[in-house]
Amino acid sequence: METKIYRVSPTRPAAWKIKECAQILKTGGLVGFPTETVYGLGASAFLDAAVKRIFEVKGRPADNPVIVHISNLSQLESVVSEMPEKARKLAEKFWPGPLTLVLSKGDKIPSSVTANLDTVAVRMPSHAVARMLIELAGPVAAPSANISGRVSPTKAEHVIADFYGKIEAIIDGGNTEIGLESTVVGNLDGVPLLLRPGGITVEMLTRAVGKVEIHPAARAEIEFAHAVAPGMKYRHYSPAASVVLVEPSASGRIFEVFEAKKNAKKTCLLLFRNRGKSAEDVIVGSRGTKEEYARNLFRLLREVDKRGYELVVVEGVDEEGIGLAIMNRLRKCASEILR
Ligand code: TXA
Ligand code: MG
Repeated sequence: METKIYRVSPTRPAAWKIKECAQILKTGGLVGFPTETVYGLGASAFLDAAVKRIFEVKGRPADNPVIVHISNLSQLESVVSEMPEKARKLAEKFWPGPLTLVLSKGDKIPSSVTANLDTVAVRMPSHAVARMLIELAGPVAAPSANISGRVSPTKAEHVIADFYGKIEAIIDGGNTEIGLESTVVGNLDGVPLLLRPGGITVEMLTRAVGKVEIHPAARAEIEFAHAVAPGMKYRHYSPAASVVLVEPSASGRIFEVFEAKKNAKKTCLLLFRNRGKSAEDVIVGSRGTKEEYARNLFRLLREVDKRGYELVVVEGVDEEGIGLAIMNRLRKCASEILR
């Protein structure tokens, strides 16, 4: 299959290009598109066969549901059957933006989208390209646009690397702003439960609706007994290189760890910020804000593979604000965690 690539301005995309892509979605095709978090791999949320193709091309297990993306509140009616008070509040405060709400599913959504659950995850992205596309095509079911198990894409090049020749179109709208997938929140008719941390932080959620519980998976904490045990168990979406995560409590030892690992494998070091050591195999992830680290993280992990490293020692950050999302992703892809 020939994949059409459409290059657009991230803020003022050419309408004719987005119209062509909306047409592709409406006729059952798949389109890779930018959002403010990561790139999505979209299909019309109402077309069962198209949604099934997403699972096929990604190699995604059929029991992992995908998020439905909407561009305005009237589309919500065709997607969900109820909107509890707390969901309403969160939507009002954080939509459009990087927040996904798990709600009761509407009848029009095929069960392939929700993996047979009676809930559906919904989000209204803020990215101008995503919004125009969804406005024209209707609700779009979209997971992150990466082969299952790989690092999520933060630029079109990543989507091209995974899906060129396998999907109808890819919209290149430049680098994504947040760089980590959206915050996912469920149990909205009770005490809201954070299922996946992201750009909308626990602190922001709490300010909006009061108490929020954090699912253990959201922290991706492992027992201390396993802390230094290498194991495949928590490797999730990861680069091909092994990831050694150095938690802030062990950050004083990071150069020592790096030197030791270098003896056995082709190793690089990914630092949160510059610590006065520059070398070819030392990568600096930010100038010091966690937001910038989040934005660059997935791109840099892909870069580690491109440059042929077998192992990367990664500096962790504290869990405040977007730090929780950063540490969730890093713990999930780490084969060894030092603290
Ligand atoms: O930022 C994002 O959320 C990106 C962009 C493209 O919007 N999408 C994304 O999709 O990260 P995906 O499929 O990679 O992650 C969706 C997450 C998964 O952890 C999935 O299990 C969860 O949302 N999810 C989807 N539907 C759910 C449901 N009904 N109940 C609980 N979790 C659900
Ligand atoms: Mg994903």
